[in-house]
Amino acid sequence: MRTPFALLLLSLYFYSVPAAVGPDILIADFEGGDYGLWKVEGEAFGPAPARGTLPHQMPVSGFEGKALVNTFFNGDGATGTLTSPPLKIERHYINFLLGGGGDPEKTCINLLIDGEIVRTATGPNTAPGGTEALDWHSWEVSDLAGKDATIQIVDRATGGWGHINVDQIVQSDRKIANVTLARELKIDKPYLHLPVKGGAAKRRMRFVVDGSMVRQFDIELAEDGPDFWTYTETAPYRDKLLRIEVDRMRAESDALERIRLADTLPGEDLYQEPLRPQFHFSPARGWTNDPNGLVYYDGEYHLFFQHNPYGTAWGNMTWGHAVSTDLVHWQQLPDAIHLDNLGTIFSGSAVVDQENTTGWQTGRHKPIVCIYTSAGGTNAESQGRPFTQSIAYSIDRGRTWTKHGGNPVLDNIHGGNRDPKVIWHAPSSQWVMVLYLDERGKFGLFGSPDLKKWTKLSDLPFPEGHECPDLFELPVDADPALRRWVAWEGGGRYLVGRFDGKAFTAESGPHLSKFGPNDYAAQTYSDIPASDGRRIQIAWMAGGKYPGMPFNQQMSVPRVLTLRTTPEGIRLFFEPVEELKKLRDKHHGWKDLALGQAPKPLEGIAGDRFDIEATFDLAKAETVGLEIRGQKIEYSAADKQLRALDKAAPLDAVSGKIRLRILVDRTSIEVFANGGRVQMAGCYLPESDNKGLAAYATGGHAAAVALDVWELRSIWKEKENL
Ligand code: FRU
Repeated sequence: MRTPFALLLLSLYFYSVPAAVGPDILIADFEGGDYGLWKVEGEAFGPAPARGTLPHQMPVSGFEGKALVNTFFNGDGATGTLTSPPLKIERHYINFLLGGGGDPEKTCINLLIDGEIVRTATGPNTAPGGTEALDWHSWEVSDLAGKDATIQIVDRATGGWGHINVDQIVQSDRKIANVTLARELKIDKPYLHLPVKGGAAKRRMRFVVDGSMVRQFDIELAEDGPDFWTYTETAPYRDKLLRIEVDRMRAESDALERIRLADTLPGEDLYQEPLRPQFHFSPARGWTNDPNGLVYYDGEYHLFFQHNPYGTAWGNMTWGHAVSTDLVHWQQLPDAIHLDNLGTIFSGSAVVDQENTTGWQTGRHKPIVCIYTSAGGTNAESQGRPFTQSIAYSIDRGRTWTKHGGNPVLDNIHGGNRDPKVIWHAPSSQWVMVLYLDERGKFGLFGSPDLKKWTKLSDLPFPEGHECPDLFELPVDADPALRRWVAWEGGGRYLVGRFDGKAFTAESGPHLSKFGPNDYAAQTYSDIPASDGRRIQIAWMAGGKYPGMPFNQQMSVPRVLTLRTTPEGIRLFFEPVEELKKLRDKHHGWKDLALGQAPKPLEGIAGDRFDIEATFDLAKAETVGLEIRGQKIEYSAADKQLRALDKAAPLDAVSGKIRLRILVDRTSIEVFANGGRVQMAGCYLPESDNKGLAAYATGGHAAAVALDVWELRSIWKEKENL
């Protein structure tokens, strides 16, 4: 093909520019094994450039070669400076890689001429939840041509992000700087797949449709092979042109080109991944923490959850959404509530507005209203705003959500006040909110006629109480005439008392309800029909590990809470919902199984998920126990402790017997003892080749009076749930 003359002229013009471009001059790449002629002062720089990540540091990425300047030496506490030998400015730019703390005076890199700072730059991080990825920076230095200069790297900070990372300082006639890249896509498929790489620099991505920004979030965007693909539904932009913009990208990056439209969710092995829980809910992609907005409406149990859809670490807090018709099988729906300029969307609750107090019901369906914390200051758009409480509603069974125009509905009261749990209090005909007031032990009660205007009712003091409260009433010993209220906090402590529509009066507590290692921020369902009458709770199994997985964290199974009288007083009991029994598959049973020292393998059983019911007669044994895929669940008669997953719970034998119900999933175990008097929930990383079970007794003989093991079906096997 012939090149048109005009184009030829144009390209000649552009090609004439490189003639003035000299080769790059390397100032330092820190690969030589020591700091060479650079002058080190203080401790922060260690004896030599760091070979990547230092102990107790999040993974450092984005540096070149094997080593870099990383002042996390001995942690954030150390300080110092590193000064280059004199250099002459001979190019238009000085380019370098920079990461770490973002304090312009205390964690910075400076260019000095005659002892004066003429250029300075600092890292990207000022708050928790940052990234240790380095990014290119560029100083334009044409005006300094020919001058003698030095470069100084400074770490004078000792607190959080009190370190700086620098690498690959180069004089160049080409600016290496970050630019905003954009790509436009005609939306003709239901999913957009985005490539994620754990530890990559966090990039701000914006979706723009018809000239308006419709979504904005941070993503660890993969520059090369992604760890996994995450996704977002495109239904709201169907047939439109979606413009995707990403800030601070290298001009030559092709990361945006790899973003793709698709007909299905990403992942050939979705829900079948090696560490995917098989009957505990986990999000298809991304991070989850607290369960939010647990509410029943029109045949469906809704489970909202704190969700980062764009990475496997906490961030971008959004309300994810799943529904179930049986509390066992979950179908994930599109995220329901997205972050906005009031903040990211922290935890909260949901109610059905049965009496249409909001006035939002227009058709057959009652409004479902979510009450959440707008966490001001946790995203770029909400800088300077406080934590407030907001609401959003749906009048189509939770399929689409509208934020209330008058948000926030409750202004800031104190600091990071958060996690509103709202109930309808029939005797006083009002909505009641219990809110964490961001100081250990302090919660407040608020009342509202319509969920939109709130006034303070009283303080709810709760020794040691922290975050994610709940408040509900239950019969004691199933006696409808004898009722008590329970006030609950995120750590699983509860008070038993009375509530008169204005104030909660504790009669006993705090009592600790959870003894397992991974159990936090539990919440109970709202609007369970009276004909069912159960108080059903789901907890976040906080802290489990899922290396290499495209998701992070899981929920507990739903549990039924009851109040019962014990010799110690009125206490909560916890049992898994009956519905879980429908996952029971092949059964193995034993009666009067004699147990001795050597673990007795339970023949013919192998798998990674079980439902176990065991009744042990302690007889003369010191301990009885089960070994499940290498994990011991053991009762010790000597100190009356049930031990599992490195934790212990106090438990008395009843007539010399211990009764256990144990739910074993691929990466989690939940133990319910003596009818729910004690519950322990924990996560484990399975020894993949150990799929067996065994029973044992030590210090004498004992018997498993009854031992029933069911292999369990996966909730994900049924493809209609995908
Ligand atoms: C509890 C919590 C809540 C907060 C949420 C943010 O785990 O800290 O207090 O609303 O997580 O994700």
